[in-house]
Amino acid sequence: MNMDKVVCECFGVTNGQVKEAVDNGATTLEEVTEATGAGTGCGACNDDLQRLVDFFTTERDS
Ligand code: FES
Repeated sequence: MNMDKVVCECFGVTNGQVKEAVDNGATTLEEVTEATGAGTGCGACNDDLQRLVDFFTTERDS
């Protein structure tokens, strides 16, 4: 995965920042949003964010 790819255009939040939030303990979309600010603008990225959160939490917890 390209960690520099921006997932949330509104706040310029990248895949890598979502991973970092998960690695730092975030488990839900809400917690990632709180940690990064991603998803609190237009909301268009929420589905993609959720997919990333699911992916990184599974990776982290396996
Ligand atoms: S793209 Fe993430 S809130 Fe708009």
